[in-house]
Amino acid sequence: TRVAVLYGGKSGEHEVSLKSAASVLRHLDRERFEPVPISIDKQGRWQCHDLRSIDATNGESLPIPSDSPAVRLEALGSRTAVLPADNAAPAIEPVDVVFPVMHGPLCEDGAVQGLLELSGAAYVGSGVLASSVGMHKDIAKRLAALAGLPVAPYLALSRRGWRRDPEGSAQAARAQLTLPVFVKPCNMGSSVGVHKVKSWEELDAALTDAFLYDTKVLVEQGIDAREIEVAVLDGDPPAASVASELNAGPQHEFYSYEAKYIDQDGASVDLPAKLDATQMERVRKLAVDAFLALECSGLARVDFFLDRKSGAFYFNEINTLPGFTAISMYPKMMEASGLPYSALITRLIELAQE
Ligand code: DAL
Ligand code: MG
Repeated sequence: TRVAVLYGGKSGEHEVSLKSAASVLRHLDRERFEPVPISIDKQGRWQCHDLRSIDATNGESLPIPSDSPAVRLEALGSRTAVLPADNAAPAIEPVDVVFPVMHGPLCEDGAVQGLLELSGAAYVGSGVLASSVGMHKDIAKRLAALAGLPVAPYLALSRRGWRRDPEGSAQAARAQLTLPVFVKPCNMGSSVGVHKVKSWEELDAALTDAFLYDTKVLVEQGIDAREIEVAVLDGDPPAASVASELNAGPQHEFYSYEAKYIDQDGASVDLPAKLDATQMERVRKLAVDAFLALECSGLARVDFFLDRKSGAFYFNEINTLPGFTAISMYPKMMEASGLPYSALITRLIELAQE
């Protein structure tokens, strides 16, 4: 089975994808699957790379060799043709499955998934609908709330409305929420563009930055909470892993991009999370509820807040293509739940073909 590993992507999480894909390639069962590395660079150009030269680099991040042929995908019966964009380049053998190991806008939000549908490809993970809904923090919360999941108070602002009346936006936030609040671009991952706002004077600068990334921005109620995550793997019914807890570390105000990928000093993970049996069961059930409510397929990591005071869980967000880097929680939680990394990748590819 030839598996195209799609990596890079035109999003703020390009570098995270290079790390995720290196990890996926390292753990792919080479006796069953032949990987075909296909990158999307920051300009959006697709290229197919020679596996041996990619393997030879053997680093933390996959490279994007600039001299590889540019390609595009097209439906070809039950397989997907990888066509050289330049007719002079040699033909590439078709692939059977595509594994998009990419995160963020245009990668995880249904855009690539739609293109893969058009290419007739079997692909790992959620389809167009769940991918776009999952990436959209506002719509995801609304659907989760409709399905009965607890959601903490937040406000969604549009760039137009904020530009027209910045004071009105600030007033709405002050009326509905208490400090601290978190300002987040609606469609991003890895905490890109996220700000913790501890005084109302800081709100405008936070909004200005967040609106660089998106036309919609959420202002979320900051809660004195523990961050709990659960990995969900598709099946009938979908299976929830044991939950884990993330501690950003004392030098970080929250689990920021930096705390996630750059300065992990002091950041720590409890796997399994230190929860009592009732809490553990509750959050695992909520994770499956979210997976089903948002019509996900394949996999998802569901992130929750656990209110330190009330003990209530709140649905925070769902990640339909969670990080797969060497330090990422999705594969670790699955491993802790009895499914080792390589077996997990195999299962995800099998699910794509079902
Ligand atoms: N958005 C990052 C990759 C994650 O959820 O792990
Ligand atoms: Mg995310």
